[in-house]
Amino acid sequence: MNTSPSEYAIIFAWLLCAIMFNTGMCSLNIRCSQKDKHALLNFKQGVIDPSSVLSSWSTQQDCCEWRGVKCDNITSRVTHLSLSCSTTLPTYTDKEDKSHCLTGSIHLSLLLVELEFLNYLNLGNNDFLAIQFDSVHSQYCDCANSSALRYLDLSYNDNLSINSLQWISSMPSLEYLYLTGIDLHKETNWLQFVTMLPSLSELDMGDCQLKDLSPSIQYANFTSLKSLSLSANEFPSDLPKWLFNLSSGISSIELYSNSLKGKLPKALLNLRHLEVLNLEDNKLSGPIPYWLGKLEHLRYLALNLNKFSGSIPTSFGNLSSLTSLLVGHNQLSGVVSERNFAKLSKLRELDIYSSPPLIFDFGVLCQEWHNSI
Ligand SMILES: *[C@@H]1O[C@H](CO)[C@@H](O)[C@H](O)[C@H]1NC(C)=O
Ligand SMILES: *[C@@H]1O[C@H](CO)[C@@H](O)[C@H](O)[C@H]1NC(C)=O
Ligand SMILES: *[C@@H]1O[C@H](CO)[C@@H](O)[C@H](O)[C@H]1NC(C)=O
Ligand SMILES: *[C@@H]1O[C@H](CO)[C@@H](O)[C@H](O)[C@H]1NC(C)=O
Ligand SMILES: *[C@@H]1O[C@H](CO)[C@@H](O)[C@H](O)[C@H]1NC(C)=O
Ligand SMILES: *[C@@H]1O[C@H](CO)[C@@H](O)[C@H](O)[C@H]1NC(C)=O
Repeated sequence: MNTSPSEYAIIFAWLLCAIMFNTGMCSLNIRCSQKDKHALLNFKQGVIDPSSVLSSWSTQQDCCEWRGVKCDNITSRVTHLSLSCSTTLPTYTDKEDKSHCLTGSIHLSLLLVELEFLNYLNLGNNDFLAIQFDSVHSQYCDCANSSALRYLDLSYNDNLSINSLQWISSMPSLEYLYLTGIDLHKETNWLQFVTMLPSLSELDMGDCQLKDLSPSIQYANFTSLKSLSLSANEFPSDLPKWLFNLSSGISSIELYSNSLKGKLPKALLNLRHLEVLNLEDNKLSGPIPYWLGKLEHLRYLALNLNKFSGSIPTSFGNLSSLTSLLVGHNQLSGVVSERNFAKLSKLRELDIYSSPPLIFDFGVLCQEWHNSI
């Protein structure tokens, strides 16, 4: 057998590696960059870890093998950090009990400056109490401003309160931002900061104790937004003008439980690609507009628990993609007939509860319609 010197070298290295593997010292197996390891250990220092989630985070192990950490296959730099806390069945019976989850504080600036290739960070459903974003760190280099982060989930850290979201503008690559359940009541400029993110596609800031939807601003610079959820905040205002002036082809808007008032403006028709419109549980009034039936991509339409009056427009019978139609618990009146459902062959969820009840006139088609539901 002819074996070249380089092949010998590989075989020798492999043997050496196999022998030393059990001691964890095989250099061929250590992929982790020292810089990334340092950053992760610094992050760990700020964290209180009651159930030893981070026990694998020790210097004896390659940091690419640490729990929650993923490295790029080629560069071996850390790209993912995923440490969301599970509180669901069957292991956990009390969804609210977070005593086994991570708490303490998140040194976000350190993570972003040193983990230059981090693109996914999920610390959702833990019990962190503070975020430290130190602008001093971002002065060491430009990396904080060119952070590779595309996905940031801090949602359901219910004891976390953030005074300013200014740090978000140093993450220009963000596409997915989930801050649900965080107390942001002191941040009055939130709209300004999130609109600085040119690639932002999904934003969820539900239940953040936000108070101001900036209803009179005409234009919000969301260039890529596809999905917006601002439910369960406190916006006792009209629907904001900027919402109907989005050029991004937005497909989902959720604004339920917000005390919103006023009528549905016709400018809503600008949002041609809307598939989900959830305005449930507000104080919206006026008629349910006939033109709403022109939003042909609607799959989920919730206008229930408001103060709408008049009848259910027959134009809704044209919404052939609709799977949920919720218009109950308003002040509706009038007749509901098969025209209201003409093309709704995909409908699976219907709420048209009204008191006093609506008049149902299904003529001969009534039986057929009943059978097909
Ligand atoms: C990286 O490695 C993992 C695990 O071996 C594999 O699932 C993944 O597809 C690889 N990714 C690339 C880009 O090669
Ligand atoms: C990062 O960007 C912000 C806003 O664009 C700027 O004010 C700040 O000086 C930049 N920092 C660095 C370190 O470049
Ligand atoms: C978070 O808030 C809950 C409810 O107020 C409390 O029981 C829990 O101890 C808090 N967690 C921490 C780490 O302070
Ligand atoms: C909108 O945002 C983009 C990217 O962040 C920026 O280049 C542009 O100047 C902004 N436009 C306005 C009108 O603010
Ligand atoms: C939409 O925004 C532009 C500014 O970019 C403004 O001139 C226009 O009046 C706005 N339209 C509406 C309907 O608010
Ligand atoms: C349904 O759509 C058709 C074709 O687009 C249109 O002619 C008709 O007027 C619409 N019906 C209602 C009730 O909006």
